[in-house]
Amino acid sequence: MPKIELAPSILSANFAQLAVDAKAALDAGGTLLHVDVMDGHFVPNITIGPPVVKSLRGALPDVIFDCHLMIEYPDELIPAFAEAGATWISVHQEACVHLDRTLHLIESHGCQPGVVINPATPVEMLDEVLDIVHHVLVMSVNPGFGGQKFIRGALRKIELLANTRAKLGLNFRIEVDGGIALDTVADVVRAGAELLVAGNAVFGSGNIGENVRNLLQAAKGAKLARA
Ligand code: DX5
Ligand code: ZN
Repeated sequence: MPKIELAPSILSANFAQLAVDAKAALDAGGTLLHVDVMDGHFVPNITIGPPVVKSLRGALPDVIFDCHLMIEYPDELIPAFAEAGATWISVHQEACVHLDRTLHLIESHGCQPGVVINPATPVEMLDEVLDIVHHVLVMSVNPGFGGQKFIRGALRKIELLANTRAKLGLNFRIEVDGGIALDTVADVVRAGAELLVAGNAVFGSGNIGENVRNLLQAAKGAKLARA
């Protein structure tokens, strides 16, 4: 059974001390740093660009940076994110006219390619690329902001992806992003997700380390129940 991992999303961290907050989440058991890149066009918000990724990379040299590009024309910026220190780069199916080309572009820059689908996009839109992606990210909120309510339709999509992966003998990893908290994490793990992005539930309130430990404990409990 795939390993459950928590990817703290720095979107909800304190931007005046990103590396400090990120370290607190990673020290407590987070294994990937989820970096939400927004351009004010594909989504109605603006966040992080390559210079911030580069600074974070300097502060956190060995961490996997899981860069989620919510931008139009990702091909234009993939080289800059790779150069800045991204490890994984995912692009939205809805933003890519030539999705196969874009995924190969990511790979050609030495990063692991991932594809993301919005809540209204069916899993079937990914059929032709499942064999070339490292991960599939299922959005369980409409992208743009942290702290939104989990959309339960994502569960069926995660199940479908897990079944397809088993049926076709593929290796892509299944990630979920949006509204992951103590009241939803067990459901997504039971559905088959293994990479769990959490922003508000990690950085929103309380102690960052404690939040990470509680989420991981709930996720691993659900995994044991599934096994
Ligand atoms: C939303 C982002 C998410 C966001 C999730 O557009 O892609 O990564 O940080 O935040 P929470 O966990 O607060 O829903
Ligand atoms: Zn994200």
